[in-house]
Amino acid sequence: MNTSKNHDNIDEIYKKIWDCLKLGIKESESDYHTFSLATSDEKLSYNRTVVLRDYDIEKHTIIFHTNNLSNKIKQIRINRNVSALFYSKDDKIQIRFTGHASINNQDEYCDERWNKMHDQSKKCYYQNIKPGAYVDHPRLVKTEKTDLLSKDFSIITININSIDWLFLSSSGHIRAEYLRSNKFAGKWIAP
Ligand SMILES: Cc1cc2nc3c(=O)[nH]c(=O)nc-3n(C[C@H](O)[C@H](O)[C@H](O)COP(=O)(O)O)c2cc1C
Repeated sequence: MNTSKNHDNIDEIYKKIWDCLKLGIKESESDYHTFSLATSDEKLSYNRTVVLRDYDIEKHTIIFHTNNLSNKIKQIRINRNVSALFYSKDDKIQIRFTGHASINNQDEYCDERWNKMHDQSKKCYYQNIKPGAYVDHPRLVKTEKTDLLSKDFSIITININSIDWLFLSSSGHIRAEYLRSNKFAGKWIAP
C-alpha cells in the first residue's frame, strides 16, 4: 500500500489503518492480508498467522475464519482477550489491535459466509482428523469437498478495544494510539 509518508494528521492515520485492512482483504499479496493472532490460556500465550477476512469500521471489528476444533478456539473460550498484529515492511508500519473475541458456529452468519467461500477453503473444514491431533503420517490427513456448511467452520470476530499504530522511519518514528474507551480519538505516544 502506498501510504503517503505524511503522517502528521492523527485522524488521517486512523482512516489509513482501515484502508490498509481494506487492501488486505482485496489483495492476497498485500502485507495486510494476514496477521499474527495472539491468544492465551491460564498458562501460556500462543501465536499464529491467520487470514484477514473482513472488518467493520463502524463496529470496530476484524474477522477471520478458523476450525472450531482448533486449539485457538479452546484458548479463546478460556480467555477471550486476544491481540492481532499486522506489519508491512514496505510501508514501515506496524498495527497492533487488542480486543475480545467472539465465536460464531453453525448459525446464519456462518451459513452466509460459507456460501461465499471457494471450494478450496471449504475443504479444510471437512478433515478426517481434527487439527492439532498427532498422526502417524501427514498423508493420513484427508479433506473432502462438500458444499454443506461444516460444523467445524467458525467465524471469529475481534471487537477492537485498542489500536497501536507505529511508523518506523530514519527521520523519526511516529506512534499513535486509538482506544475504544476514548471513542477511538487518536493520541500521539512516544514510540
Ligand atoms: C499464511 C497462513 C495463513 C493462515 N490462515 C489461517 C486462517 O485464516 N485460519 C486459521 O485457523 N489458521 C490459519 N493458518 C494456520 C495457523 O497459522 C495455525 O497453524 C493453525 O490454525 C493452528 O493453530 P492453533 O493450533 O493455534 O489453533 C494460516 C497459516 C498461514 C501460514
